[in-house]
Amino acid sequence: MRRLFVAGGAGFIGSNFIRYVMRERPDVAVVNFDALTYAGNPANLADVSDEARYSFVHGNVADAPAVAAAMEGCDAVVNFAAESHVDRSIEDASDFMETNARGAYNVLAAARDLGVEFVLHISTDEVYGPATKDNPRHENDAFKPRSPYAVSKAAGDMMCHAFAETYGLQVVVARPANNVGPYQYPEKAIPLFVTNAIENEPLPVYGEGLQLRDRLYVEDNCRALLLLLERGDKGEAYNIQADNHRPNIDVARTVLDLLDKPYTLIQFVEDRAGHDPCYWMDSSKLRALGWEPQFDFDAAMQETVRWYVEHKDWWRQIKSGDFRAYYERQYGDRLAASRPYAS
Ligand code: NAD
Ligand code: DAU
Repeated sequence: MRRLFVAGGAGFIGSNFIRYVMRERPDVAVVNFDALTYAGNPANLADVSDEARYSFVHGNVADAPAVAAAMEGCDAVVNFAAESHVDRSIEDASDFMETNARGAYNVLAAARDLGVEFVLHISTDEVYGPATKDNPRHENDAFKPRSPYAVSKAAGDMMCHAFAETYGLQVVVARPANNVGPYQYPEKAIPLFVTNAIENEPLPVYGEGLQLRDRLYVEDNCRALLLLLERGDKGEAYNIQADNHRPNIDVARTVLDLLDKPYTLIQFVEDRAGHDPCYWMDSSKLRALGWEPQFDFDAAMQETVRWYVEHKDWWRQIKSGDFRAYYERQYGDRLAASRPYAS
């Protein structure tokens, strides 16, 4: 049996990935190492947590001895652990540097020292900075990260290449686009829009809502990650993009259409500082391994909205806690000065 060390497995993508791997690979055991920050939630894995081949270790990737102790006996590593929200990195990026840069280093160093066979590190399309459809980013292009979050992720990503070159560590870097799907913390745009719409609360769209993001369904991402874990070329990076790009205003309108709610719930609010207008990657390197997304934009949005409608207890519990203080800081003044939607 293969023993997989997963860092950050209690968050959005990590929990979907653990569930996916345990379903697709019955011989794989998983050690989920997670600090359970505000974004980590044991409820995300309630359906697999009783299985004998699943274990949970409460720990912080910034704590090097704890990482090494939990990784002992594992033959592969997947690192999702991160502070992941761009808006929070604009408020204060110190935890981002600690987890996304130092934490990534600690995971790589433990894997090297323990002789782990393979590491899959989860980076992001944001390391490239803005790009366009006519000028998409390829894996060897220069990094031009612009937000504090993206810079902290670029540090972790580049450290992977240093470990491959310097120590011969067998490491692959995945650079996924914007994911959408079940269990995403409702600070992110799509779950925020969906859950606010269900409650007849305003949907705060930044600026004019014209920024473009790909909408990669999380299960398509998990399929790509498992493929890279098993067949990725060591020392290489791979872009993961579904080509489901839409401007944010279209996403807000799609959410409202699916819930049969009026567009007047949309409020245009002060833009994100340094807001990247568009990310666009070329994902032919991954597609050459046989990967294709199975969810187009409409299917991804339908599945996602349906899940949030059917799991109100999950997100209502989150939104009634510390989230309220964050929401007030992030949106209180913005909504007070917002501009209404006009068709
Ligand atoms: P998330 O915020 O939902 O989950 C992050 C998880 O990491 C949580 O379980 C949290 O408790 C854990 N964590 C945070 N700090 C930790 C620490 N110091 N030690 C151990 N665990 C810690 O994030 P996500 O959206 O699931 O993103 C997962 C990874 O994928 C991140 O590395 C992110 O940068 C990357 N990524 C995300 C997206 C996206 O659209 N969500 C797209 C591309 C890349
Ligand atoms: O592209 C990959 C990245 O996708 C990941 O690396 C990040 O971890 C992940 O959080 C996500 O970053 P984004 O900044 O793209 O996601 P977010 O959901 O915060 O924002 C998506 C778009 O919606 C972005 O253009 C900003 C806009 N937005 C966001 C929020 C929270 C709004 O218009 N209103 C909002 O309230």
